[in-house]
Amino acid sequence: MIETVATTPFTDQKPGTSGLRKKVKVFQQAHYAENFIQSVFDVVKGKQGATLVIGGDGRFLNREVIDKAIRMAAANGFGRVVVGQGGILSTPAASNIIRQRGAIGGLVLSASHNPGGPDEDFGIKYNIANGGPAPEKVTDAIHARTKSIDEYRIASAASIDLDAIGESQIGEMVIEVIDSVADYADLMQSLFDFTAIRGAELTMAFDAMSAVTGPYAKEILERRLGFAEGSVRNGTPLEDFGGHHPDPNLVHARELYDLMMSPHAPDFGAASDGDGDRNLIIGRGIFITPSDSLAMLAANAHLAPAYAGGLKGIARSMPTSAAADRVADGLGIPAYETPTGWKFFGNLLDAGMATICGEESAGTGSDHVREKDGLWAVLLWLNILAATGKSVKQIADEHWGRFGRNYYARHDYEGVDSAAADALMTELRGKLGELPGQSFGLLTVEAADDFAYEDPTDGSVSRKQGVRVLFAGGSRVVFRLSGTGTSGATLRVYLERYEPVAGRLDADTAEMLAEIVAAADAIAEIVRHTGRTQPDVVT
Ligand code: G6P
Ligand code: ZN
Repeated sequence: MIETVATTPFTDQKPGTSGLRKKVKVFQQAHYAENFIQSVFDVVKGKQGATLVIGGDGRFLNREVIDKAIRMAAANGFGRVVVGQGGILSTPAASNIIRQRGAIGGLVLSASHNPGGPDEDFGIKYNIANGGPAPEKVTDAIHARTKSIDEYRIASAASIDLDAIGESQIGEMVIEVIDSVADYADLMQSLFDFTAIRGAELTMAFDAMSAVTGPYAKEILERRLGFAEGSVRNGTPLEDFGGHHPDPNLVHARELYDLMMSPHAPDFGAASDGDGDRNLIIGRGIFITPSDSLAMLAANAHLAPAYAGGLKGIARSMPTSAAADRVADGLGIPAYETPTGWKFFGNLLDAGMATICGEESAGTGSDHVREKDGLWAVLLWLNILAATGKSVKQIADEHWGRFGRNYYARHDYEGVDSAAADALMTELRGKLGELPGQSFGLLTVEAADDFAYEDPTDGSVSRKQGVRVLFAGGSRVVFRLSGTGTSGATLRVYLERYEPVAGRLDADTAEMLAEIVAAADAIAEIVRHTGRTQPDVVT
């Protein structure tokens, strides 16, 4: 039976960088999730009889919201819902299923690398038919709809069994519960040389951070590739990620980092985040920054079967270092610079203009799906190690010896008062015109702007995507506010310094960036605005 429920709008349902993300308590308000889901459905054209994919990272509230979403899909005329067993689909796996099944789109339930549990975060993101996050014109339409919504439709069906693989029905709509892992594991096997990786007899440690990649990593790494049992750590998905931040960086994946720096380090260390789209790559004794990883993967991708024919182009987000641009240059292929957010890569991938994309925020991926993909990056690294017989350190050293090195770090100031963060950005934007020519220590500003992007495929323009200050000699600092937080503001300061092939390629990153750090504070007056003398997280 279909019920139409009267509701009133919530004023805070504007999707951010990656869907609607809020505290669980916010989502637990009566009608809150329903309002947003109905707003999505109201915007989706052609949903009658269409297939919708639903899955999430298993965090607290996942099952409850999936149950509602399925019943609402039935009441809104969808023909079929494909859902991962237990409500589990990693974000890249969901993207794959949307594409494979010719679905009209999908609901991806996750707050990515944010913590989970009753007092933590939850999120709902809508992905379109290409498998990627909805572009801004769609999220804007969803947001507009949330402001005027007055009713939603939901089927009052008996309970839905998410645990049994197979089909059931609510009215006309079929609910298909699928194995969460199999299709994705097959896709990975089709891209990479599993025989070579198996044969290389490498050792590795993969930290699934008690999040969604556990079952995927066990199937692919331990079962199909033969890595020793126990190579996958924290491999059971927990609703609260064991109380940790499932964020694969040097702070939250500290144990893995310490292992990789110890005498007992295996050949390769990696981790992924809450929903499986991010990655952390650490070799024995060497951390590879996400920006460098993108560049090194692009430079060596031809060693994996799926990319043996070469790359069409490389895309990176603006705050990501320019290391990938140098590879594109070397390969004679185009390089694209987009705003932060994976959704901006979708059009380039659809148009066949880029093959590999990446972001400083630990995301790398290719045209195999339309999301970034943590395990994909891990497998491409393994394929490269197996094909070359080299260590991560050798690959990195040779890369820098060929292209030069972009020293890089990101400083995050978390939980800053929103008004103070806004004031910092406003003042900074106000002085962009007078910065060129000014010197800070030994650095002289060459150019400064507020990044705007015109999508080359559809001409759409996104403005105010982050302030860039470029120094003479190729160093750079970028300032932007995070678009994924759920409380207060996070100021991100991205620092980069280029050393040419003949320069210092084996120096300490903090030392190499010290001058730029000082310039960044002088330019943005971080201490005055935020009261902070140190960042909370350095990645
Ligand atoms: C999500 C998106 C990424 C993006 C990141 C930026 O993870 O999927 O594409 O790079 O957010 O987050 P921020 O907090 O810097 O806005
Ligand atoms: Zn994520």
